[in-house]
Amino acid sequence: MKNQREITFEILSQNKYSNIELQKLSHHPHRAFITHLVYTVYQNYELLVFQTADFLKKPVIKEIEVILAMAAAQHYFMDSVVEYALVNESVELAKKVNVKFGGLVNAVLKKMVQRPMQLSKSSDELIDLSINTSHPLWIVKLCKAQYGLDVTKRLLEHHNTEAPIDVRINTTKTSVEEMIEKYPVSFEGDYLTASSEIFKTDALEKGLLLVQDRNSQRLINDIKDINGINILDACTAPGTKLTQLASRNKDYQLVGVDLYQHRIDLTKRLVDRWGLDNIDLVVSDILEYHRFDPFDLILCDVPCSGLGVLRRKPDIKRRIQPEDLDELEILQQAILVHTASLLREGGLLVYATCTLNKKENEKQIETFLMNHSDFELIHQETLIGVDNNGDSFYSAHLVKKSGIIS
Ligand SMILES: C[S@@+](CC[C@H](N)C(=O)[O-])C[C@H]1O[C@@H](n2cnc3c(N)ncnc32)[C@H](O)[C@@H]1O
Repeated sequence: MKNQREITFEILSQNKYSNIELQKLSHHPHRAFITHLVYTVYQNYELLVFQTADFLKKPVIKEIEVILAMAAAQHYFMDSVVEYALVNESVELAKKVNVKFGGLVNAVLKKMVQRPMQLSKSSDELIDLSINTSHPLWIVKLCKAQYGLDVTKRLLEHHNTEAPIDVRINTTKTSVEEMIEKYPVSFEGDYLTASSEIFKTDALEKGLLLVQDRNSQRLINDIKDINGINILDACTAPGTKLTQLASRNKDYQLVGVDLYQHRIDLTKRLVDRWGLDNIDLVVSDILEYHRFDPFDLILCDVPCSGLGVLRRKPDIKRRIQPEDLDELEILQQAILVHTASLLREGGLLVYATCTLNKKENEKQIETFLMNHSDFELIHQETLIGVDNNGDSFYSAHLVKKSGIIS
């Protein structure tokens, strides 16, 4: 049987979806340790790699880089490990990759444990930001080019802070007052948050609340004028925004579409827990989804690079690559164009992402409007997470004008 460090190594070296892998370990005796180590490494990867970089004569293979980063994470961020044990366990892990790496890992880690954490102080500010805040350099450059150096610095720091547990109450079952009285829920300024004790209660299982970032909630709250009751949520799983819309008015008739059966199953469980009966869930590629009756409101919360949610999902920093962006941009435009054809005249199309990348945001809307003169942009907004301790989102509201053929 694999030990806890081997399991952690496997998740990290294969860049697996950490939340899915960690869910599989729900009954593992060392789940807490594995989760902590996985997230510490994902969150601090560049800085961890930097701790041993100057002891290496040449770059090492990915597996050894991960083993060194895991050791640095335990040494600098999780102070409960005895140094010689840390070195020995790392050497054993390295030998399993290839016996020839044992000596190298031993020599490097023996030096590392003797010195305090190092910060990068080079002549290149962006490289220093990349290493010291642990973001891939391409993300730092993209952010600076699009949002400026000041916002970039604040955002990168923000991604390394602890996210509050923002919650949304299921007002079809209970009230905010009742939840505050009975559960560890309270207002933090304008926002309703919970302490981590909430996970030990029955509140989530009973569908009394769910965890949803404040700006994700705001994105839906900003959709004010829904003229009609027929709503399509084009990319719906796991159903966070779908349930927010559905809870607003029991007369709404919603259709939630997602490409994957397992993600629709996840959504269905949420919808059932919340006791909502005004939702139809459909497994389909949205590009192949058709319906005779047009919709009054369509939400396109499209798949995106996720650069706005790096604080809550640091594994995105490891998985997303610059070359993934082109493919995403093509899909996003296709979803926008197709769903536009499912909207009635006078209806509202809301395009949304959880990223800070203008090519996936403003530029998509510009391209769409160039080819669709029957649509008008009535609102667009970028919610920059660092401004209110939330995640970052973009949304655009497009109205389909009446009587114009594009
Ligand atoms: C950003 S997430 C949506 C989050 C969701 N709106 C919420 O608030 O909980 C994007 C979703 O789009 C789905 N997706 C990706 N490509 C799709 C496609 N071609 N058709 C339908 N859904 C798709 C993904 O499976 C993912 O669940």
